[in-house]
Amino acid sequence: MLHHLLTLLTCLSTTIALPAKHLPVRQSTDSFRDIAYYAYFQDANHQPYNILPIIENPSHITHLNLFSVDLRTSGPNLTIGGVAPTDSSFLGDLWGEVKQVQQAGVKVLASIGAYQAECWILLQDDFNTWYPILLDFLQRYELDGVDLDIEPNAQGQTPNGIAAPLQLIQALRNDMAADFIISMAPVAADLTANPPEYSGFDYKQLDNAAVGPDGQHQIDFFNGQFYNGWGDCSDASTYDSIILNGYSPDRVIFGVLADSEDGNGFCSISTLTTTIKTIRTTYPTMGGADGYELVRAGQDDDLQNWQWFQGIYNASTTALLAL
Ligand SMILES: *[C@@H]1O[C@H](CO)[C@@H](O)[C@H](O)[C@H]1NC(C)=O
Ligand SMILES: *[C@@H]1O[C@H](CO)[C@@H](O)[C@H](O)[C@H]1NC(C)=O
Repeated sequence: MLHHLLTLLTCLSTTIALPAKHLPVRQSTDSFRDIAYYAYFQDANHQPYNILPIIENPSHITHLNLFSVDLRTSGPNLTIGGVAPTDSSFLGDLWGEVKQVQQAGVKVLASIGAYQAECWILLQDDFNTWYPILLDFLQRYELDGVDLDIEPNAQGQTPNGIAAPLQLIQALRNDMAADFIISMAPVAADLTANPPEYSGFDYKQLDNAAVGPDGQHQIDFFNGQFYNGWGDCSDASTYDSIILNGYSPDRVIFGVLADSEDGNGFCSISTLTTTIKTIRTTYPTMGGADGYELVRAGQDDDLQNWQWFQGIYNASTTALLAL
């Protein structure tokens, strides 16, 4: 009986861990991250979008950022894509799909905040009320990490210095497992030595303060936004300035628009390929690239969305092979 039960369990766990049609995410030990922001949750016909093609095809996506999670004073306390996490009429089987892409090796993160989000001022003003709501969500859906996107709220307010973001980072490091990922999504200009412009604080000051008892950085990496005038995707100059400012290349992600509808400063995949090759040839430990946004990625380049992310991966590996 015990033997049969064990056999059954083994079969089950094998089935669950390795869905046959899903390709492994990473075939080498390359540490280059290929990060997709997922923001629309619905397709062009307003039907819940299905994310499984990112693991059914060799997209090489390593991280999927669910964009975005916010805290609200009216309606559901916590929203994702503007609705409650349980709203399957809008989200479809998001959480079932998240489990499957996680089992295929993709890290799934909650991207918290964004433009006009309420959460940063709520967390700053009343951490003890709002943090437990956020923590419960992260634990309930077994997310692999958070991406903190700190932008002005609807009243134009940003956090007052580093205290509130630091409190959140330290609380998460305390409450989540050691491999929990904490990334941030500043505009690229705010990672350079220029005066802080957008999030209300100096990222270098925060990064220097966010160091654990083990001496390690508590922020794993930065998804720099190299668009909307805060950085350029057509050359390596902004990335160079960030490295000159003291960030290690393995912690700096080249974040770009994956389609021209989602902002200003779009670059075609061929331009991105050239820029990524230049950056990675200069800094072989380059942390990765991210694309905003998954559903629309590739539409300007005549590529399927997963192919756009494959193109990013191709650029990074070609550069490395050429060294
Ligand atoms: C969160 O939502 C619950 C249920 O709607 C409500 O009772 C509670 O007061 C809310 N908490 C906050 C901080 O708004
Ligand atoms: C990436 O490289 C592979 C292998 O050379 C190739 O088959 C594929 O078409 C390339 N993808 C893109 C989007 O360029």
